[in-house]
Amino acid sequence: MATVKSPRKILVTSALPYANGSIHLGHLVEYIQTDIWVRFQKMQGHTVHYVCADDTHGTPIMLRAEKEGVTPEALIEGVHKEHSADFKEFLVEFDHYYSTNAPENKELSQSIYKKLKANGKIATKTIEQFYDPVKNMFLPDRFIKGECPKCHAKDQYGDSCEVCGATYNPTELINAYSAVSGAAPIRKETEHYFFKLSECEDFLKDWTRSGTLQGEAANKMSEWFENGLNDWDISRDAPYFGFEIPDAPGKYFYVWLDAPIGYMASFKKLCRDAGLDFDEYWKKDSSTELYHFIGKDILYFHALFWPATLEFSGYRKPTQIFAHGFLTVNGEKMSKSRGTFITARSYLEHIKNPEYLRYYYAAKLNSSMEDIDLSLDDFVARVNSDLVGKYINIASRTAGFINKRFDGKLKATTKHPVIEALKGAQKLIAEAYEAREYGKALREIMRLADLANADVAEAAPWVKAKQAGDLAAQELHLDCSAALEMFRLLSLYLKPVLPKLVAEVERFLNIAPLNWGAVADSMTDGHQINAYEHLITRVDTKLIEAMTEANKENLTVSPQVAAPVAKPMATTVLPEAEYISIDDFTKVDLRIAKIVNAEHVEGAEKLLKLTLDIGEEKSRQVFAGIKSAYDPTTLVGRLTVMVANLAPRKMKFGMSEGMVLAASDENGGPFILSPDAGASLGMRVK
Ligand code: MSP
Ligand code: ZN
Repeated sequence: MATVKSPRKILVTSALPYANGSIHLGHLVEYIQTDIWVRFQKMQGHTVHYVCADDTHGTPIMLRAEKEGVTPEALIEGVHKEHSADFKEFLVEFDHYYSTNAPENKELSQSIYKKLKANGKIATKTIEQFYDPVKNMFLPDRFIKGECPKCHAKDQYGDSCEVCGATYNPTELINAYSAVSGAAPIRKETEHYFFKLSECEDFLKDWTRSGTLQGEAANKMSEWFENGLNDWDISRDAPYFGFEIPDAPGKYFYVWLDAPIGYMASFKKLCRDAGLDFDEYWKKDSSTELYHFIGKDILYFHALFWPATLEFSGYRKPTQIFAHGFLTVNGEKMSKSRGTFITARSYLEHIKNPEYLRYYYAAKLNSSMEDIDLSLDDFVARVNSDLVGKYINIASRTAGFINKRFDGKLKATTKHPVIEALKGAQKLIAEAYEAREYGKALREIMRLADLANADVAEAAPWVKAKQAGDLAAQELHLDCSAALEMFRLLSLYLKPVLPKLVAEVERFLNIAPLNWGAVADSMTDGHQINAYEHLITRVDTKLIEAMTEANKENLTVSPQVAAPVAKPMATTVLPEAEYISIDDFTKVDLRIAKIVNAEHVEGAEKLLKLTLDIGEEKSRQVFAGIKSAYDPTTLVGRLTVMVANLAPRKMKFGMSEGMVLAASDENGGPFILSPDAGASLGMRVK
């Protein structure tokens, strides 16, 4: 019998993706890694709940919503749909995918805060923070920019320089400005709430030693302990999109306080919907298991703040935290200019089959925090040689004979050395999956596939099929039946990684959904299979090229004035990769704007400074590269078309908050666009 031990009760999470961006191939490392583990545990017969949610709170989301002219609630609702669809198509099967902006999360966050407070773990302190005097809000470090104090690169963020890599305090920036309004920030005092992490050191040291972390993560913890633990600032001032702190009007929980509580909230909602017992999983002495899959960048939050929060509010702690490394593409950080910053959606549009990526990631993944590289050439080679050349090949070379010569009926196989080897490997493969050593599991599975292929090659059914006589026919029947039994076992082992393909295999073999116990079964004498239909095709390198081409962003063109419209377009049909979807188009908020002021900019060769009335905003400032063609006084009062939701950009002369559309080529221009009579300012162009 296969080893199904007594069923475990397991709650699994992946980190909650931020609701201010699309899911990309980097994120997918984590969700695919977790999903494989969850599917494996479910195949083992354990009770597993896999929950996740969008991480919806914080300043970036609030500002983005404002920029797009929608409420944060509407923004996160749209992103929730988008993320859910991406995960579904990549076969990442959550038992519940929620949002941190949910009543369960509010309730839990506030009650956990109250417990921490009752346990003496909350303190208040007056601190000084940067404040945007135009926008009337405190600014997170990320929203302060200025000149790097080390290398003097312009427009660097408040925490670190992207040019020389220096890290510093925003106070050290030269000529600091607010990325929100462009104004020079001032320093302002405010009272903040702190979680007294410094008092949790003994607890955290014990917890770290209890085997909850990987070796590398435990080392990181030691480093943090050596540097000493600081109290954690858990509050932010209004305006902030988040949950208000009880009895502290105008103060909100910092997004990282309620985000991990979102794990609990998502599960809580699942419990309500599915009749599960929330307390059984979260009470202090729970005997259930709790695992968090995360990236190494958020270890600090999960290995320090989170267990301390749980401990001092009376809940259980995680059984283990599984941190993984970061994705690189072709050996480098994902890059927009190289076209390797690829969204989940873009992959699906070009490559279509999500299981290629699942397979490739699995082949590369292990239990460490090392980065993993998606080498696009290797991706094509590996998928084609392993999935098509080794695995599917076994069925495609043998199924036809069973169908054509034997009415689709199998002959039972007794004592076949390769089948024995396949069955004998179940423990090793299960242990590798359990330990998140997916690369090791797949290497073993492919070694077995090699054995199976060698066996088919030796049996040479295509030769026997041409020989006359009963003996040849009997052997043909046996050999092909054995090959399909090998194929069944390989499919079982690959199922956590390739759930959709294996579901098709189950249909083809006409068998019940495979679980781990089915290693011990065999397809019986006379078992009827279905017609074999081609199960998978090879990846074409051309698709990869089209994908990276489509993702290349030309970052050298200044986005402030529309690039000259491309050469007159003949009626050629573009390659699919070059079309944009209607959704892409509707993301661009084109607006009729009235130029209420236009003036020269001292020191600027090409730019005019325009002030635009776009209806709900009366004074949008835009720098447009049209000085060569227009006298500013002739522009005042006329209507034009602008991109209203372009991210604001700090230029040498001030902030530019949008773009005016203009046409030009070698024959002339720029010519700014005007609407037909009747159009009025504020109208949207659709
Ligand atoms: N919202 C937080 C997590 C809160 S959990 C209570 C966050 N969101 S994220 O969208 O930035 O990242 C979500 C997960 O994806 C994180 O675990 C992160 O490490 C992972 N990854 C994001 N980019 C990644 C790569 N390029 N490579 C591998 N994993 C990456 O952090
Ligand atoms: Zn620098």
